[in-house]
Amino acid sequence: MSGALFLPLPGNETLASRLAELRGGTLGRMQQGTFPDGETHLRLDFDPAGKEVALVCTLAQPDQKLLPLLFAADAARDLGARKVGLIAPYLCYMRQDKRFHPGEAVTSRSFARLLSQNLDWLVTVDPHLHRYAALADIYSIPTRTLHAGALLAGWIGANVAKPFLIGPDAESRQWVAETAALCGAEFAVLSKERLGDAKVRIAPPPWRVPHECTPVFLDDIISTGASLLEGMGQVVSSKKPVALAVHGILSENTANRLEGISAHLVTTNSVDNPHAEIDLTGLIDGNLAGLA
Ligand code: R5P
Repeated sequence: MSGALFLPLPGNETLASRLAELRGGTLGRMQQGTFPDGETHLRLDFDPAGKEVALVCTLAQPDQKLLPLLFAADAARDLGARKVGLIAPYLCYMRQDKRFHPGEAVTSRSFARLLSQNLDWLVTVDPHLHRYAALADIYSIPTRTLHAGALLAGWIGANVAKPFLIGPDAESRQWVAETAALCGAEFAVLSKERLGDAKVRIAPPPWRVPHECTPVFLDDIISTGASLLEGMGQVVSSKKPVALAVHGILSENTANRLEGISAHLVTTNSVDNPHAEIDLTGLIDGNLAGLA
């Protein structure tokens, strides 16, 4: 990727310019506007001919971002780019990974097909792999899945004296176990049943957090916060819990509610939010070699 051209979609300028600097690449710019009829106008301010282009676009709230992203990829290719890849610290549309109800679109597969048809490669951080073992199950382009576990463990080690890690559901075991091992902590996972978009039920666990330990609730995504709020309500501990996640989607009022009952709320900066204390730039920079 050395010498690549990093093109940020709106809102991704900081990550793109830091990657361009770290990797000896160039920062690309584009103008994006809207015609009176609501259609997108897009213009690349550089010549991509013969270049490796890395689009940088995290994909929280993805629907408005997708068309400009596809237009940018297509324009770069049309103007002669050698390859066009995507760095998406948060990859959306991974949670609808089966047809839960008759007639539902399995959007994880549809979205993967769409990106695979328009890009040469994809790099992302801790995508929600639950029923899929790997992105290769649904993406037909080369993908690279990075893990923030070591960064989360580093934050815990620096900020929590005696952590006890807790995952809100069975699928969180993978990242909770990895992070717990990295920071030498004990962990447990809860049993969760989803009742609706913002409603879950978590059974009270048969264990308590050891008296001297601080519970650290850890999930891949905090969206409505229902999973962590309900989990915190069911676990008995003598210390205020910490809420930690890779991706802070944090829908309306979620941060306020979590801050009300926890000692800290911390996420990575895969999605821009006021609690994004853990920087992913180094992790991404260290994993771009040999892709393009
Ligand atoms: C579940 O499938 C995910 O791993 C997260 O637990 C979930 O996305 C969190 O969503 P919410 O914050 O809305 O409970």
